[in-house]
Amino acid sequence: MRRAATLIAGDGIGPEITEATLSVLDALGVGFDWDEQYGGMSAVEKAGTPLPKATLDSIRQTGLALKGPLTTPVGGGYRSVNVALRQEFELYANVRPVKSIVPGGRYVDVDLVIVRENTEGMYVGFDRTFKVGNDPKALAQATSVMTRDGCRRIVRYAFDYARRHGRKKVTVVHKANILKATSGLFLETARQIAAEYQGQIASDDKIVDNAAMQLVINPAQFDVIVTTNLFGDILSDEASGLVGGLGLAPGANVGEHAAIFEAVHGSAPDIAGQGIANPAAQMLAAAMMLDHIGQLQEAGRLRRALETVIVKDNVRTKDLGGSASTTDFARAVARRV
Ligand code: NAI
Ligand code: MG
Repeated sequence: MRRAATLIAGDGIGPEITEATLSVLDALGVGFDWDEQYGGMSAVEKAGTPLPKATLDSIRQTGLALKGPLTTPVGGGYRSVNVALRQEFELYANVRPVKSIVPGGRYVDVDLVIVRENTEGMYVGFDRTFKVGNDPKALAQATSVMTRDGCRRIVRYAFDYARRHGRKKVTVVHKANILKATSGLFLETARQIAAEYQGQIASDDKIVDNAAMQLVINPAQFDVIVTTNLFGDILSDEASGLVGGLGLAPGANVGEHAAIFEAVHGSAPDIAGQGIANPAAQMLAAAMMLDHIGQLQEAGRLRRALETVIVKDNVRTKDLGGSASTTDFARAVARRV
C-alpha cells in the first residue's frame, strides 16, 4: 500500500542526503507517494517565503513528512521554519534515538531514546528584560509554563513508544526538588501514568543533574528517557555526543495529527555540493518514519543494512573517518537492503 507523504529536500546538503535516502527507500521497496514541497532558503528562492502555504497544506493533508535541514539566517532574517512547523502542527514530542554504531568509540553499548516535550516549559517565549533606573536590562525574567495535559501527553507518548518498540524502562527526568511547581507537576503526572503501565514497562525517576552525570558514567543503564523541553534539549545533544555526533543522529517531531522526520544536523553549508555529506542520519530518520506508519520490518531492514555497511563493509563517509562519498554510501546500503 502506498502512503502519501510530504518531501522537503531542504537546503545545503539537504538535496544530496535526501536523494541518497530515497534511493535506499526504493531498494527497500517501500512505496511513498511523495508530494515534493519547499522550505527554508530554497523556498525563499522559489516562492519568496521560507514557509510557503503549499508546504503547510501538504503536511496538513498527508500528516507525514520527511524533511532535510533548513537554513536559518543568524541574527535577523526570517524566523526558524523548524520552530514554525513545530508550533503550526503542535508537534509536542521530540524523539531522538541514540545508539552506538561505529565500533571503537568511547561507549559501545548505548541504545537509548530521549523523548523531549517540545511545546511547553522554558521555551514558551516568556523571556524579557526590565529597565531599572538607567539600565534597560537591569533585570531579566523567564517564565516556564507546564500544563497537566501537556505533561500527560508527553509521558503517555514515551510509555506507548516504549511498548511499541519493545523497550523495557522509562526514566522520568526532572528537577522537582527545586522547581516544585513546574517540574513537580511533571513528576507527579508522570508517576500516575507510570502506574498505569506497571507490569509492562518499568519506570524510575532521576533529577536532571544526576541524569546528566549518569549519562556519561554509564549510559547503558538508560532505555527511554522522558523529560521537559529545556532538559531534553540539553540531554539529547549530550547523548548524541556519546556516540560520535551528528552524522548518525535522527530525530522526529510528532503530534496528534502530523509527524515530521529529519536528521538532527543542519544544512552544513561548509560541505554542501561536494558529495561528501553523510546521509546516514537522514536514512535513520526515514527508518523512524517507517516505524511510525507501522512498517517495522522495513525499518529494521534499513537499520541493519546501514549498520552492516558501516561496521562490516567499512564504507564510511569522511565525518566517520572514511573516504566514501554520499552516493557510495547510499549504493552500499541499497545493496545490503
Ligand atoms: P550543521 O549541523 O549544519 O553543521 C555542523 C558541522 O557538522 C559542520 O562542520 C558540518 O559540515 C558537519 N555536518 C553536519 N551534518 C553533516 C553530515 N550529514 N555529514 C557530514 N558532516 C556533517 O550546523 P550549523 O553549521 O550550526 O548550521 C548550519 C545551518 O543549518 C544553519 O542555518 C542552521 O540554522 C541550520 N540548522 C537546521 C536544522 C534543521 O533544519 N533541523 C538543525 C540545525 C541547524
Ligand atoms: Mg538543541
